[in-house]
Amino acid sequence: MALADFLKQLDEVAVQAAQVFGSAADAEAVEAGRVEFMGAKQGRLKAAQKGMGVLDKAERPAAGKRFNEVKEQIDAAFQAAVERLAAKPPAVRKMTPQFDPTVPGTPLRIGRLHPITQTIEELKDIMGRLGFSVADGPEIEDERHNFEALNIPREHPARDPLDNFYLAAAGHASGVETALLRSQTSTVQIRVMEKTPPPIRIICLGRVYRPDTADATHYPMFHQMEGLLIDTHVTMADLKSVLRLFATSYLGRDVHIRFRPSFFPFTEPSVEVDFHWDGQWIEFGGAGMVDPNVLNAVGYDPEQVIGFAFGLGIERLCMRRHGITDIREFYKNDVRFLHQF
Ligand code: PHE
Repeated sequence: MALADFLKQLDEVAVQAAQVFGSAADAEAVEAGRVEFMGAKQGRLKAAQKGMGVLDKAERPAAGKRFNEVKEQIDAAFQAAVERLAAKPPAVRKMTPQFDPTVPGTPLRIGRLHPITQTIEELKDIMGRLGFSVADGPEIEDERHNFEALNIPREHPARDPLDNFYLAAAGHASGVETALLRSQTSTVQIRVMEKTPPPIRIICLGRVYRPDTADATHYPMFHQMEGLLIDTHVTMADLKSVLRLFATSYLGRDVHIRFRPSFFPFTEPSVEVDFHWDGQWIEFGGAGMVDPNVLNAVGYDPEQVIGFAFGLGIERLCMRRHGITDIREFYKNDVRFLHQF
């Protein structure tokens, strides 16, 4: 065999040994490599060494030198593999998951108050500072409180069955008192005055019902804030001041409001109140000086006391405050909408 062939064979052994030891994943692979390359009887180094015997005498020193180098390389690769595996941490034992107090928690989705409820709370707060306390009344009403005592006689169009949710069970049958879902919170004016002597300074915030077709600005149920102030020297100027103060408190100092002459059976004179929004005047309520007929109906003396009342749409106020353009959003129960407030 020529020297060149011998060296080539030796190099192949060196390359393969480096590969085997370098990639050995466990002690068995290392041992198998040791037997294959370094084995005293069948090992490939041993075989190569035997091959040296057939070389020319003159070629032997060079061959022996190279053989020793390769042997050293293979020893080193074996040693490195043994050390690498010894340094490797023991196979990971299966562990039960441990509690790690440093991991950030999963945030709870905490609910929040509906925007209308939030608005109601804020309105109570504002009016509370103006000295108004909160009164309440039922949503199922009788005709006396919803109409009669409010100077709305039987033939008045506001009592039309098409404009009210009369309750079928009560019906119009003789002797049975007719009930309806209240169409306005003005009912509470009557309820409060019936059982409280003047002076009065109350608000009432709650639901009212009218058979309107739902669109961007109407809904068959909505909320009103009623206000009633009865005392001895009360004028329209007081009413306007209170509504102005209220509007600037809730909608901001720069809000424009205006009063338009109007008519309600239970106030005289009467106005409607508008705020300015996006280049338009939007009505947000009615108001006026309490009609003497109403004072009489609850047993007050119109010669002794006088007062004002107002009824404001809570949805409209909330819509303007938050830039909401469709009233139906409030009642869809879409958390993506509700979560914004
Ligand atoms: N009750 C009236 C309405 O629902 C509003 C109003 C209340 C007007 C009090 C005058 C006084 O439209």
